[in-house]
Amino acid sequence: MIDEIRNLRNQIATEIGEITSKELLDNFRMKYLVKKGEIQAYFEKMKTAAPDIKPIIGKELNECRQFAEREFKVLQEKFATATETKVDIDMTLPGRRNFNGTFHPVLQTLEDITEIFRSMGFTVAEGPDIEDGYHNFDALNFAPDHPARDMQDTFFVKSDRELLLRTHTSPVQIRVMQSQQPPIRSIMPGRVYRNESINSRSLAEFHQVEGLYIDKNVSLAELKATIMAFAKRMYGEKSKFRFRPSYFPFTEPSAEVDISCYLCGGTGCRICKHSGWLEIAGCGMVHPNVLRAGGIDPEIYSGYAFGFGIERVTLLRTGIDDIRLLYENDLRVLRQF
Ligand code: PHE
Repeated sequence: MIDEIRNLRNQIATEIGEITSKELLDNFRMKYLVKKGEIQAYFEKMKTAAPDIKPIIGKELNECRQFAEREFKVLQEKFATATETKVDIDMTLPGRRNFNGTFHPVLQTLEDITEIFRSMGFTVAEGPDIEDGYHNFDALNFAPDHPARDMQDTFFVKSDRELLLRTHTSPVQIRVMQSQQPPIRSIMPGRVYRNESINSRSLAEFHQVEGLYIDKNVSLAELKATIMAFAKRMYGEKSKFRFRPSYFPFTEPSAEVDISCYLCGGTGCRICKHSGWLEIAGCGMVHPNVLRAGGIDPEIYSGYAFGFGIERVTLLRTGIDDIRLLYENDLRVLRQF
């Protein structure tokens, strides 16, 4: 009989574990805890047992009943509070929204750009924000008297003009060339600094992604094809682009890439300065002097480079019409992306 009672107790424990509602709990009570329940039945049976084992059975049975009652009370309370809170809910109250954090739209853009170039076989490289004049200018074939070096454009860290905040990501090209042999296929994202007046189109601190491809027989056609492949994936097949001849000391020939203005669709507005076009990148074939500065023989190798402004790309894809909104950190703006 002791074994039977132990089995009963195990059975009660299993059934308790399966009770998920008030109704099931009530069934449990009817089965075990009422006068005609199974536990009480054993107490009746006990009366016929031999006197020497009666106390042992009694102890075992009492423990079993206490156990069942304890578990029953716990569940009873649980279901009682559950119904109470249910009653407390005011279904007419407006819901409370959970705001999850997201990546900043500029970082989202950078990740998408990185992903597209990575799929084309480009690796990612980085360089320091505080550069020396050599990497930012001289090695990139800037003439000693080039106006970009001027105090007006460049933030110098020291008055001897040796250290500065990089004005573009192109110095990373030099660092990459100096540290590896062709073929080189890298993009170089980072923050850049220019002493410019801040307005709806430009900031003094912004981000660029540089691209560099160096190998034997690299052609201008490949540069154009790469940029077009990227731009179509970034902006969709329908966007219109144009390549405009331009000048950079570190590329020859050089070009600027424009996209049709997202805001006015090409008819002319404040953002595109009424031209219908927005400049999104500078590019060109790497100048032989730059290859030499990077320790690469221009007789054997050639290459192309490009540089995108990440904020500009972000404005285009988000439809934000003022670059300053990106960094005011107004949650009403940032939560939209
Ligand atoms: N560094 C140039 C700029 O800041 C962009 C550029 C990069 C142009 C690479 C040509 C090649 O405007």
